[in-house]
Amino acid sequence: MRLRHRKWADDVLLANKDIARTLADFEPETLQDYENLEIGSGQGGFLLEVCKLQPQERYLGVEINRNAFALAVKHAAMVKEDRHNFLLLNAPIERVFPLLKDQQLNTIYLNFSDPWPKKKQHHRRLTYPTLQKEYHRILKEDGTLYFRTDNIDLFNDSIEYFKEADLFDFEIIQPFYSENVDYLPPTEYETKFRAKGVQINVLIAHPKKK
Ligand SMILES: C[S@@+](CC[C@H](N)C(=O)[O-])C[C@H]1O[C@@H](n2cnc3c(N)ncnc32)[C@H](O)[C@@H]1O
Repeated sequence: MRLRHRKWADDVLLANKDIARTLADFEPETLQDYENLEIGSGQGGFLLEVCKLQPQERYLGVEINRNAFALAVKHAAMVKEDRHNFLLLNAPIERVFPLLKDQQLNTIYLNFSDPWPKKKQHHRRLTYPTLQKEYHRILKEDGTLYFRTDNIDLFNDSIEYFKEADLFDFEIIQPFYSENVDYLPPTEYETKFRAKGVQINVLIAHPKKK
């Protein structure tokens, strides 16, 4: 069963090299054309929607998990004829940072990042202070980072990480409702959690002067 899925994923990726790459098959400098980044783009619903809303901006979606990535590519292939402003990349973000220029990005989206609940795993959280140094480097001075989660422990810890790193000014929206704003359309995870009545929390961060 697992092998069958892999074969399906391989076929989808092979047929859609124009919109989906791995680190093995792309020219690193092409990443410098993108002004917006979603880290952990999952099945791609958010990225494809925001691409439609902002056709003049280019979006890069980075996803480490091959199965989620393959599903995103499948969804993207269905709409790629009318959306020409995105690239999906199957890679860990840690391998992508060196390929991004200083002050390249208008926005970074961390949508429902993995909570890594055990203390010894906390350094893997995408809001961890060590990663914030990279976010601060690659965001423009007037850029914005949006972090959204249902997980209250991750959210509260992340507020502490932002204070500790001291690289961003930030505000929080708690509870957050996607329908009240036009800049953060719902993701697959958000739709799932909202249906269960779970509160969604958002942190919006702006780089302090470099
Ligand atoms: C909980 S899912 C959320 C997916 C999607 N953003 C959503 O809201 O529906 C988190 C995603 O982040 C991806 N991810 C976690 N760590 C990552 C990393 N270091 N680099 C790239 N993707 C990562 C996971 O594989 C997973 O697909």
